[in-house]
Amino acid sequence: MRVHVADHPLINHKLTYLRDKRTDTPTFRRLTDELVTLLAYEATRDVRVTPFDIETPVAPTTGIHLSTPKPLVVPILRAGLGMLDGMMRMLPTAEVGFLGMVRNEETLEAHTYANRLPDDLDKRQCYLLDPMLATGGTLAAAIHYLVDLGADHITAITLLSAPEGIERVEQDVADIDPPVTLVTGAIDEKLNEHGYIVPGLGDAGDRLYG
Ligand code: PRP
Repeated sequence: MRVHVADHPLINHKLTYLRDKRTDTPTFRRLTDELVTLLAYEATRDVRVTPFDIETPVAPTTGIHLSTPKPLVVPILRAGLGMLDGMMRMLPTAEVGFLGMVRNEETLEAHTYANRLPDDLDKRQCYLLDPMLATGGTLAAAIHYLVDLGADHITAITLLSAPEGIERVEQDVADIDPPVTLVTGAIDEKLNEHGYIVPGLGDAGDRLYG
């Protein structure tokens, strides 16, 4: 797995307010939205494009537009939904699939409870959205879910990741070729005994949606 930490002062600044427990829900949603647009810039560096001829007021030139079939953005419900609008602002012609997964807070195992995905995943670049990569169980399961449906180009975007979770996902997806890419806003210190990222930001789903 290729891991890219988008270490940038603007990202760290917004993450600071996102982490702060005094940040209210409307502000948390806005910061999540802003952060994903910054992370999308890194995550879409290898998005497939096609040359496209245009004329400026001065001269003809060749630019690019996104190739078809369009990229597929897949938020992992529920917290990943908070990242969808920001991602779609950067990739307005992308299509959207949905994957509902929840982590059992006792066993920390991920369970898939919903999916609505197109059947041509083998032709698309897939962008998985989830604010948190904690134990890595959810992301690893989501990646395998997409691969089992034929996906062969997956980029995951998380706001925060735990080192233990990255290691687990790395081991779990080591055989996938081409390698999965992870773009994250920060790698935190560790997981605590409850599977929460430390220092983290608490439960992203709860802070976004109550
Ligand atoms: C949180 C988070 C990730 C997952 C991370 O979701 O949004 O999906 O846990 O944990 P893991 O890396 O240990 O698997 P949660 O299961 O709380 O569901 P929600 O998004 O519906 O709140």
